[in-house]
Amino acid sequence: MRTLIRNATILTMNDRVEIVHGAVSVADGRIVSVGPEPEGTWDSSIDAGGAYLVPGFIQTHIHLCQTLFRGYADDMPLLDWLKRCVWPMEAAHTPSTLRAATRLAAAELLLSGTTTVLTMETVHDTDVVFETLAETGMRAVVGKCMMDGTDEVPRRLQERTRDSIDESLALKKRWDGAANGRLYAAFAPRFAVSCSRELLEAVAHLSRQERTIVHTHASENREEVEVVRRLSGGFSNLEYLADTGLATPHLCAAHCVWVTDAEQALLAERDVKVLHCPGSNLKLGSGIAPVAEMRRRGISVSLGSDGAACNNRLDMFDEIRLAATLQAVKESPGAITARDAIWMATREGARALGMETELGSIEVGKRADLILVGRDQPHLAPDVDPWSTLAYSARGTDVWLTMVDGQVLMRDRRLAGADVEEISRTARLGAAELATRAGI
Ligand code: GUN
Ligand code: FE
Repeated sequence: MRTLIRNATILTMNDRVEIVHGAVSVADGRIVSVGPEPEGTWDSSIDAGGAYLVPGFIQTHIHLCQTLFRGYADDMPLLDWLKRCVWPMEAAHTPSTLRAATRLAAAELLLSGTTTVLTMETVHDTDVVFETLAETGMRAVVGKCMMDGTDEVPRRLQERTRDSIDESLALKKRWDGAANGRLYAAFAPRFAVSCSRELLEAVAHLSRQERTIVHTHASENREEVEVVRRLSGGFSNLEYLADTGLATPHLCAAHCVWVTDAEQALLAERDVKVLHCPGSNLKLGSGIAPVAEMRRRGISVSLGSDGAACNNRLDMFDEIRLAATLQAVKESPGAITARDAIWMATREGARALGMETELGSIEVGKRADLILVGRDQPHLAPDVDPWSTLAYSARGTDVWLTMVDGQVLMRDRRLAGADVEEISRTARLGAAELATRAGI
């Protein structure tokens, strides 16, 4: 399959962050030229006049399974929100509701320009999430949630340490590299509050051995930090994770809102990846992460919407805008520029996933994961600076086209091979069923 995209204004996100006018050609899922229009024959040609061509967004923290919880878990702080709504609803999931949640999430994500996610799922039935993602055409790194360490969660989510590890390894064996290399598996110990020390140490060992991403939550909320201090015998959260062996370049730690100076130094030294979720941090009242400060220290900070239960949108344009505007409040305007925020949504996401040679920029040899963002709407005029237009003015509904691995998955606001009305209807029914079973 060979595709030519013509007349584009290309925000390459290459090392020099160049903006190039011209064409991008794609063959067999990879970018084969950027710039002058190449000679050749093409299976299809797309006119990108009037649009920005940008790398597809990479969301490094999300929970696809929580998409059905949207609107059922509002206006609560983290630990209440987990105990009262999220855990009971996760415990109520079945293979069919997980499938409905994954399809709903993929529809929303592809319609708003996200092509890759790092997702933490629930404890059971993660094969269904992989299978459904394989059908949708999205790129994903998926972790089955691991939780063996607290009796405050519903019985169905309480695991034995060995079972949790065995299931994670079995998923990895079945799915790593599946769907033409679009799907990978991660280890996903939920957070220090719900995991035993033994589990965290075992995951740290396996992650080193198997060179596998560990996806977790850390220091999102002050109460959580206090709970970790008590259960760990006095450690701050990231020092505790480091003590278990987890603080390596493979560790992807969502939130890191309440990190001390010493913890930030640790994150930088160990090249731990921070996954910033500004929309979720606002809605759960968690706080404003010291993102500009962490970036000055050289820490990788990428972006995610977290779940629909705590955002409630999965639109990366919101996170880009908030990543910049929240730092204007925390420090000063310009602490994170519009361009920085777009970098965090693309290149930095690829770096976090260890996929920088494959994803994150429009460069020859990389996977053809890209989006076209239309510039024709009144809310985008006068459109004098592409970074400003994309970071501050645009929204998910401005995306004209979403391509993953050279396949057009969304064009003209329509998903290829998917019936969005049916997806939404099935999701509503599934959500009602979950709420009833969870007693919410
Ligand atoms: N901490 C532990 N679990 C979760 C979760 O599902 N979402 C968020 N935002 N934080 C968590
Ligand atoms: Fe989360």
